[in-house]
Amino acid sequence: MGENTVTVIDNRTGKQIELPVMQSTQGPDAVDIGRFLRETGYFTYDPGFLSTASCHSRLTYLDGKQGMLQYRGYPIEQLAEHSSFIEVAYLMLCGELPDQAQLEGFQHKITHHSMLNESLKGFFRGFYHDAHPMAIMVGVVGSLSAFYHDSTDINNPKHREIAGHRMIAKMPVIAAASYKHSIGEPQVYPDNSLSYTGNLLNMMFSVPCEEYEIDPVAERALDLIFILHADHEQNASTSTVRLAGSSGANPFACIASGIAALWGPAHGGANEAVLAMLDEIGDVRSVPKYLDRAKDRTDPFRLMGFGHRVYKNYDPRARIIRKMCHEVLAKLGEGDDPMFELALRLEEIARSDEYFIQRNLYPNVDFYSGLIYKALGIPTNMFTVMFAIARTVGWVAQWMEMIGEEDQRIGRPRQLYVGAKQRDYQPPGER
Ligand code: SDX
Repeated sequence: MGENTVTVIDNRTGKQIELPVMQSTQGPDAVDIGRFLRETGYFTYDPGFLSTASCHSRLTYLDGKQGMLQYRGYPIEQLAEHSSFIEVAYLMLCGELPDQAQLEGFQHKITHHSMLNESLKGFFRGFYHDAHPMAIMVGVVGSLSAFYHDSTDINNPKHREIAGHRMIAKMPVIAAASYKHSIGEPQVYPDNSLSYTGNLLNMMFSVPCEEYEIDPVAERALDLIFILHADHEQNASTSTVRLAGSSGANPFACIASGIAALWGPAHGGANEAVLAMLDEIGDVRSVPKYLDRAKDRTDPFRLMGFGHRVYKNYDPRARIIRKMCHEVLAKLGEGDDPMFELALRLEEIARSDEYFIQRNLYPNVDFYSGLIYKALGIPTNMFTVMFAIARTVGWVAQWMEMIGEEDQRIGRPRQLYVGAKQRDYQPPGER
């Protein structure tokens, strides 16, 4: 038996096979089951991918037990304290932290890809005023491939790079335009003299009739939230982008598929759902009643912003954002925001409850991010849009990594078929 293999014995036939072990640089190694069907006649079964690695990657490492998150090996705590979202974007796309010239060059590229084709403005007007901004985003991002034919040859690394830069640059513009459409205000063009998040704030909140002053607290808070949300290994939306990309679909269509997957309340839609939940709970006296509902398997109510597929310890991003939430609310004069107080009390009560302790249900990144967005004056239906802007860096980096792999092939999972056995067609009169 090879020392770097595992042996699988079929107790029904006595047959045994050896499968190679692929070694990681951090975290669990992986058993390569590529030959499993051919050698055993069995599929493996793991519907939620709880134990299944869909790819190998050099981008992001999570340790759910330790509550660790690293981008290209750098701990999220250090990046949150010392870096910027644009610098993190460079790190994720290029693999190393940039020197000053590289950072300025990258910033220049992103800034100068931010304008939208003027014809796109008509798309926003086509949506009803109360269209959810995520619906607008899915539609507009998916349509970008109709405008950028010069960057959709996915086998050309230059095209891949331009398409990636375009996506990162245009997401804030599309987000802000979606918001402006929903409130009936004119779109604001990007301003190349502003930072990435300063530009977003300006495009969302400035109006032609008066000067708009960007609040540096809001600018830095958004930049930090975006760093925390930039990438997160093979989460549902990133896996969707990779699967769409594996068929050779153009990058804009792939990112649109990621936006659609992110929208779900079990994933990126949770930040919006947390605010709705806190609003519904209303008062700390109602918390026990809602905790009982969360524990009741017959009740679909879940404690939004709690739990995580990977983190069975505190989500490191939640720890960072909780601290920042306090600071931002205090600086913006919302320190005694009753909803924030309720969130703190809910966390305290839930984390002392046996049900949550047993299931390692801690607050995740979405539990607090919505409170900060709310304090910054961002409407609830834009919370997941904010998440999508940040996660575009991860989606682009993961898509680039996958497309760039020599052995890249279309993703095509199998199934355990449990339906009807073969049977013959009967004419209607004989059924
Ligand atoms: C994000 O994958 C990522 O990395 C995602 C993300 C990223 O950056 O991309 O981190 C962003 O999506 C964070 C998660 C945001 N979602 C929510 O806050 C929604 C609420 N959370 C749950 O829906 C749930 O915790 C999930 C979806 C996050 C995780 O689901 P799992 O891993 O499939 O866990 P599970 O549903 O199997 O739960 C295990 C147990 C179950 O109870 P038992 O069957 O053991 O009795 O815990 C219970 C669940 O009923 N449970 C909860 C709960 N989450 C899990 N009970 C009450 N409230 C909750 N929130």
